[in-house]
Amino acid sequence: MKKMPDVGFGLWKVDSADCERVILDAVKAGYRHFDCAADYANEQAVGQGIKAAIDAGHVTREDLWITSKLWNTFHHPDHVQGACQKSLDDLGLEYLDLYLIHFPIALEYVPVEKRYPPEWLLDPEAETPRMVRAPVPLADTWAAMETLVDKAMVKQIGVCNYNSGLLHDLMSYARIKPAVLQIEAHPYLTQDNLIRLAGDYGIKVTAFSPLGALSYFEIDMAKPADSILTEETITEIASAHGKTPAQVVLKWGVQRGTAIIPKSSNAGRMAENLAITDFDLTDDQMAAISGLNANRRFNDPGVFCEAAFGLFNPIYD
Ligand code: A2P
Repeated sequence: MKKMPDVGFGLWKVDSADCERVILDAVKAGYRHFDCAADYANEQAVGQGIKAAIDAGHVTREDLWITSKLWNTFHHPDHVQGACQKSLDDLGLEYLDLYLIHFPIALEYVPVEKRYPPEWLLDPEAETPRMVRAPVPLADTWAAMETLVDKAMVKQIGVCNYNSGLLHDLMSYARIKPAVLQIEAHPYLTQDNLIRLAGDYGIKVTAFSPLGALSYFEIDMAKPADSILTEETITEIASAHGKTPAQVVLKWGVQRGTAIIPKSSNAGRMAENLAITDFDLTDDQMAAISGLNANRRFNDPGVFCEAAFGLFNPIYD
């Protein structure tokens, strides 16, 4: 089985208009792992970028690791295969390396022909738009995900945004075990228990938003004062190694055993984020960075669903 590269490239919030250039730059910089999702509303454009990179001879499909994610409105077993096929068609691929359940939140089905991606609201045009839960057990969704592996549409399957209770539950019934758990993790949200539990179960963890608040400035969910890059512990370690603060934060993520999926639209920062293999953090430096943990979560449905969609919908306690 192909190994998932430790440093991937996240496609969340990359504009469709930029995707082809961004993917080409990222492939040229050395990225082989791309983290996509139906909900990012750019999979067709990502597909064009992948095709351009392959047609130009920079990579083959086999060189690449492509992840996508099942959106919340497609959890019912009747809709899982169609949702996966839609991502495959948009990305222009025969198979995904990894397909993840995006959130442990099932929402009312919205047909692809009606609206795509469906996002969170059932009826965004209504006078009072509603986010509407669907009564679909995650076990049923998982069984449908397993069928995608059986049909060779995806090589491996996994989950995102699960807590430890949901992970225990999933492991109790999974015929095909989850290969990957994708969660928010950075020095302000170290997630030690969940990462340790995943390790005990043999599940690889991918950290999204590995640079913490930086992902959230542009969507007004964090302020520059929340940045990890100006934290003294980080800047001192960065000077000691002749590296940038971002490189130190990303190295900490990889050195603790998680994969990371930083995103940058800038070719220089793309290269910077990959150039973290020529130094190691000491045990003391690792511990000092982990000591910054403040359980500070930026991507929390318990906060943003109520603020944006009028439904109190926590999934973490
Ligand atoms: P930009 O695209 O302009 O480089 P995350 O990976 O956590 O989602 O963070 C993405 C955010 O971090 C983007 O706003 C990106 O901006 C910024 N970013 C990515 N790499 C770096 C870096 N090495 N130094 C500073 N900012 C970075």
